Amino acid sequence: MYKAPRGTSDILPQEQPWWKYVQEEATRICLLYGYQRLNTPIFEDSGLFARTVAGGTDIVDKEMYVFHDRGGQKLALRAEGTAPVCRAYLEHGMFNLPQPVRLYYIGPTFRYERPQAGRYRQHHQFGCEVVGDSDPTLDAEVIDIARSFLLSLGLPVLSILLNSIGCRLCQPTYVEALKRHYSNYSDRLCPDCEVRLVRNPLRLLDCKESSCQEVAETSPRISDYLCPDCQNHFQAVQQYLEALAIPFEMDYRLVRGLDYYTRTVFEIQTQGEERQGALVGGGRYDNLIEQLGGKPTPAVGFASGIERIISSLKSQQADIPHKPRRTTFMAFMGTEARIAAMKLASQLRSAGIPVIAASGDRSLKSQLRQANSLGADYAIIIGEREVTTGSAVLRDMVSNKQETLTLSEVAAALSGPTTANN
Ligand code: HAM
Repeated sequence: MYKAPRGTSDILPQEQPWWKYVQEEATRICLLYGYQRLNTPIFEDSGLFARTVAGGTDIVDKEMYVFHDRGGQKLALRAEGTAPVCRAYLEHGMFNLPQPVRLYYIGPTFRYERPQAGRYRQHHQFGCEVVGDSDPTLDAEVIDIARSFLLSLGLPVLSILLNSIGCRLCQPTYVEALKRHYSNYSDRLCPDCEVRLVRNPLRLLDCKESSCQEVAETSPRISDYLCPDCQNHFQAVQQYLEALAIPFEMDYRLVRGLDYYTRTVFEIQTQGEERQGALVGGGRYDNLIEQLGGKPTPAVGFASGIERIISSLKSQQADIPHKPRRTTFMAFMGTEARIAAMKLASQLRSAGIPVIAASGDRSLKSQLRQANSLGADYAIIIGEREVTTGSAVLRDMVSNKQETLTLSEVAAALSGPTTANN
């Protein structure tokens, strides 16, 4: 028996209302802020991620799904959404549009992680990117969008963690100071941090091992190393967040797991769900487009994991609004009635009325049982008599009352206001 690959899951019919709700809310919020949807392919040239997310990060070193296609091209399943958006921005000359360009995306993302709560090998991200402007109001704007999205879903926002990790002018001096500090404690570091010390020192700060956390506590703070431009930018971001009454907490050890960030980085968590990790992560990435061969183009954005959001909604026992949708089941008895039922179902669907058709040669009783188990509000029954008289029986599955109507009366009765119970 085959099973869905480890770390992936089927999104079953009963789960779909949650997905629809979250995706519709994401879309609604994006439109409120003037973001336009972009869909990028599910796989890209693997170099796109290797160059931007960068070696020395878990995503590139351990988690990418890389394969060669039959033409020998080295491809990778989408490991995150930001680099593909930047690739598309360049490929389609979006730099010629009025800047900044505001884009959002919703789609699957693949990382070969150890599956556990909130961590899957295929997860789905909703993300927003604003490309082409370094204005700190945009850092505040994307944080505002992420927060509004969570609040509009009914999730309490526990904390917005905020930091600035500087730019290519000031960050190297900080990294040197960090390396000096950690070198004094090299005997206490976990094996991963020994590697980070050489390959990606910033990531030393968010190691979860207790011995490494002790070293992080006394480490130099990036805030003391920011150049005047980065300091001004960061202060402005905070000022705009305050103006929007968005509470945040400074987290001087927040560095994020991807290498392209500059200046602002942030994460958002919700109450009681710390175990599964952040609901939202993002930040500014002013060098990424240049790394991909474009002109220097500042940008900022965030992404959130839809699985984590739905799991939080469920554990908060959130109610999701669902519009009642009337479902009608088409039952028949006999060969001629089968054809008449197919025709009527087709006419009703053309008029926008959803109809589920019976199949096979089951008894009427068994067909009505199926209608019930599908949650149908009405059943239309056609037998030999109805075929001859050009009529149909319309049965209310809730009250079990039924009446014989002409075909046009059936259509009129089903196009009335929704009273359905599903
Ligand atoms: P990230 O923090 O790697 O950032 O992922 C964003 C969000 O995706 C996380 O906060 C989490 O909710 C969800 N997520 C990540 N990995 C998994 C997983 N294995 N299973 C379930 N959910 C997961 C990025 O990907 C950046 N591209 C975000 C960004 C956009 N930065 C700027 N613009």
